[in-house]
Amino acid sequence: MYRFEVHQVKKPLEGEVQISGAKNAVLAVMAAALLAEGVSEITNVPHLKDMKTMSDVLRIIGCRISGEAHQLKIDTRGADHLEAPYELVKTMRASFYVLGPLVARFGRCRVSLPGGCAWGPRPVDLHLKGLEALGAKINLTRGYVEATCEGRLPGGTFNFPISSVGATVNVLMAATLAKGTSVLQNAALEPEIDNLVDYLVSMGAKIQGRGTRTLTVQGVESLRPGKGYTIPDRIEAGTYLCGAAITRGCVKVTKIIPEHIASTLDAFREMGCKVDVGNDWAQVDARGMELKPISISTLPFPGFPTDMQAPLMATLVSVPGNSLIQDTVYNDRFKHVAELQRMGANIQVNGNTATIKGGTKLEGTEIMGSDLRATAALVLAALVAEGESTVSRVYHLDRGYEDFENKMAKIGGVVIRHSDDEDDDAF
Ligand code: EPZ
Repeated sequence: MYRFEVHQVKKPLEGEVQISGAKNAVLAVMAAALLAEGVSEITNVPHLKDMKTMSDVLRIIGCRISGEAHQLKIDTRGADHLEAPYELVKTMRASFYVLGPLVARFGRCRVSLPGGCAWGPRPVDLHLKGLEALGAKINLTRGYVEATCEGRLPGGTFNFPISSVGATVNVLMAATLAKGTSVLQNAALEPEIDNLVDYLVSMGAKIQGRGTRTLTVQGVESLRPGKGYTIPDRIEAGTYLCGAAITRGCVKVTKIIPEHIASTLDAFREMGCKVDVGNDWAQVDARGMELKPISISTLPFPGFPTDMQAPLMATLVSVPGNSLIQDTVYNDRFKHVAELQRMGANIQVNGNTATIKGGTKLEGTEIMGSDLRATAALVLAALVAEGESTVSRVYHLDRGYEDFENKMAKIGGVVIRHSDDEDDDAF
């Protein structure tokens, strides 16, 4: 296990950070490779722990994974063990994405239910209902989903009662090989879905409605291996921009798609930051500024993302006045609050809304990460807390932030990794 030693910045963060490929885009595309026989290729893949976990899941199924630099090759010609075991699915919920492709291509599979996560239950009922709407038979036994269908999935129409990224991913992938035409209504609009649509189309899938809430899929008999690019990580970008705001510095994130972080940039503007945007970059300048408290609710894309809730909360702790953050996507995603309070933050949580009385002086201390974004938020707070902090359970952050210490160092953040025990190897 690793921990971070984080020092209070001696001066505001300043400089440029190049953003990596999006974890949440790659995970879906890696699962999509199962829809075809052969070697699929993915570029702009970040080096993250979650990619390793998804590779382990695909290897258990029988695939061969290779890759160098930021490319991945997935050879599915050996895929014959149609199962995703609990010990992997419980460590990474996105392993559940193999369900749709396996049942659609092979007519049967057994995938562990993901169980909960740090901030509470994460149901998969919409994944299962959507696959049943396409004609899959779903049986739940001993914590596993057994999905079967006679021959090809018949296909069908499914109206998602709420916007779900993962359920849209699973059902969309299955629909590409179903018979006839399937319609996904109220599909998620997150950019990671567009990235998956582009990848599926490179495999020969026939999909209309990219970027809208209605995806119409004309099923095909078979798909060819895919070849595609990974969009930049909009949450990684937002996190480094929070670094500019919280330290009253100026950070430019490059190799991004600005439309993907529009709602995040609006939050910085509302706080009083100077925001500049180019065709593949964005900059937040908070130098010498008195930032203002804000009230904000997280929403499905294009609203303010729930994954930015914790990093923004850490930022608002540094802004004098009362700010409000409501998480309408996950109403219990506040495990980072107790740790921020230990540093001296004045935050009250009532239901799914946190009231932040900002402007209190934070003191460096030992703090513990509980999930990916919460851990990033604690590092941000530690950068402005007095003295030195130790952030434990950094494995959470390693799931979604490539080369974190070096990127932070480039803009003046002192984050030093220590192993909790000597023989720890890199994940
Ligand atoms: C994806 O999770 C992301 N993960 C999450 O990012 C992100 O927080 C989330 O979307 C919301 O944007 C990946 O892409 C791998 P959902 P997902 O299905 O697909 C409820 C990170 O930090 N729901 O869009 O699991 C659910 O409880 C991670 O990178 C059901 O009720 O999220 C939530 O309230 C954390 N039944 C809402 O829908 C279901 O079957 C949205 O969840 C599925 C979801």
